[in-house]
This record gives sequence, structure tokens and C-alpha cells, in this order.
Amino acid sequence: MIMEKKSILEYETVELDTKENELVIIDQTKLPGNIEIIRLKTAEEIWNAIYLLKVRGAPAIGVAAAMGLYVLAGSIKTDSYVMFYEKFEEYKDYLNSARPTAVNLSWALSRMDRLVRSMKDSAIPDILKALEKEAQNIKKEDIAVCRAIGEYGLSLVKRGDGILTHCNAGQLATCKYGTATAPIYLGHERGYGFKVFADETRPLLQGARLTAFELQSAGIDVTLICDNMSATVMKQGKVNAVFVGCDRVAANGDTANKIGTSVVATVAKYYNVPVYVCAPTSTIDLNTPDGEHINIEVRPDSEITEMWYKERMAPEGIKVYNPAFDVTDHSLITGIITENGIAYEPYTDSLRKLKQ
Ligand code: MRU
Repeated sequence: MIMEKKSILEYETVELDTKENELVIIDQTKLPGNIEIIRLKTAEEIWNAIYLLKVRGAPAIGVAAAMGLYVLAGSIKTDSYVMFYEKFEEYKDYLNSARPTAVNLSWALSRMDRLVRSMKDSAIPDILKALEKEAQNIKKEDIAVCRAIGEYGLSLVKRGDGILTHCNAGQLATCKYGTATAPIYLGHERGYGFKVFADETRPLLQGARLTAFELQSAGIDVTLICDNMSATVMKQGKVNAVFVGCDRVAANGDTANKIGTSVVATVAKYYNVPVYVCAPTSTIDLNTPDGEHINIEVRPDSEITEMWYKERMAPEGIKVYNPAFDVTDHSLITGIITENGIAYEPYTDSLRKLKQ
């Protein structure tokens, strides 16, 4: 369904239609040209929406998966807990296989799973009611978490600062405010007058299509640059801080985020620009000791060779390597901003304290 014109920020990134038992999302692959709202009902539709990045960004993936699992649970026709749980688990594992790097996916699904396991003796309609509440809570919490990250992040910058961000860790990647954009949105409300540089973020252009779009819609001063221009704007003294999101933060602070983040962080270190990772504690994975242990998603070659071009832009048969994320070493990160405060080195201690 193509919607009438209103700002992208007025739409819900992810929501639940409980009447129709459908997951409702903005199809982010159509942005910025068309704001298209789509409704998802089947396991394949939900899995595909996550895999194809119709809904993307770690926190939004978590919320979509929880709401999607609720929708699928509602389609299970049985009165028996054992049969219900068998099918529920199958759906949960299937959704969990859609994308491997963002820990929010398994985190949100595990929350839903724990709830069902704690209600073994309840009637199925009661379990469904509880699941709906849990999914809505995950969304509500995401909004509060992003706002808190925004407040902490804002305390690290000053009026008129230049801020560089990579990929989209904006409202479109969450349910409101974004993570890396939360300090920018809150600062904008308070007249900070930030000048934001958005990396376009090859190969899927989340920076150009999503971050530039949503910040511009909010009336924020945003300039789009190619990924290979960050050193130039830093050298020219136009960047006072880098704010990025994350898909998984290991116990030692090594951080997986969109491919290219570690390039930005390395360059920022050279030019003495602080790098802040904005991380809901749900994205901190204390079971993963370091970046070496993070599973990095590798995506199809076509995303690099042809996807956004009118015609193919690489020779037929060329070898392609397309990892969707990279790991920024903790030594390149100035601070990790969570909803509970800011973690600094040594991250092994500080992250553990803030995660509690
Ligand atoms: O592949 P994507 O678009 O899901 O990647 C998104 C990112 O890398 C974001 O920076 C990250 O998920 C944080 S979103 C608040």
C-alpha cells in the first residue's frame, strides 16, 4: 500500500495489527522514493522481510521478530500446550535463521520463548495474551532505551558540533529516535545546531537512502558523503565526534556494525576524533568474548555488482566478497553509550556493570 504524503518520522517502523493478526512495517527497500507500508502474516513473509532488509537495524529486527513470532503463534490451531510449543519453537528457530549478526534477533526471540516455557500450565489464549504484551513491551522499552542513549550521547558533544555517522542507526532502525541519531534528534529539539555527515554506506546505501532521508525530514543539517570521504571531512576539521550503532558488542568491547565502521573508526583515531558506539544493553553479548567470535553475515554478490545500478557495473564472473558487517576493535572506541550509562575501557568490566 503506497501512503499519502507525510513525514517518514510519523510512521511506525514496526507495529502489530492485533485485529488482523499481522505484522506491519515500512518496506525500507523502497525508501526514499516510496513510503510503502506492508503487512506480513506468514513465516516466509516475515523471514523474507528480515533477510531482504525490508525491516533492518538491530533493534527493529528484534521488535519485528518478537511481533512476528506473536503473529505466527496466533496461527497455531491447537489446545495442547505440547503441540503449541513444538510449532512455536519451529517458528522461533526459523525466524532466528534470517540474519546471524544482530544479537537483538535471538535476544527478542528468547524473551518470547522464555515466557511460553514459563506458562506450561496455562491455556493457549492466555499464553497468546502474554506474548502480545511481551512483544509490545520490547517495542516500548526500545523507545525508552533510545531516548536514554540520546541523553547520555548529548552530554558528550557541544553546540554546533560536526557529527559523522555510518549506515542507519536512526529511527528507521529502531522504534523511535534511533541509537546513533538519538543525541542528534534530542540536540536538534534543543537547538544545538549540529552539522551531520552521513556516509552513504555501500553496498546497500542505508546512509544515503535512510539516514540522509530521515534526518533531512526532521529539518536537521545533514550532508551526504561517499564512504571514502570520511578522512577528508575529518582532516578538514569538520567532524567533532563519530556516533555509530552496533549489531553485537562482545564482552571485551569489540563491536560488529555495518561494513565500513571499522574504517571510519581507524581514520577517526588518526585524526583524534572520538568514536562513540551507541548500544542498547540488548546488543551487548557477554557470551561472546571478543570480535573473533562474532558471526559475520556474508550477503549475495549481486548487492555489489548490480543491485542499485541501471545496468551491471562489474564484469560478469568477477569474484566478489560481500561481508555485511565488520568488527571495530575496542581500542578504537572512545566510549560505548548504553541506556544505563557510558562504558569506557576496560570494557570487560564496564560493560558487565552496565548490562546488569
Ligand atoms: O544491515 P543492516 O541495515 O541491518 O545494518 C544496520 C546496522 O549496521 C546498524 O548500524 C545497526 O544495526 C544498529 S541500528 C540501531
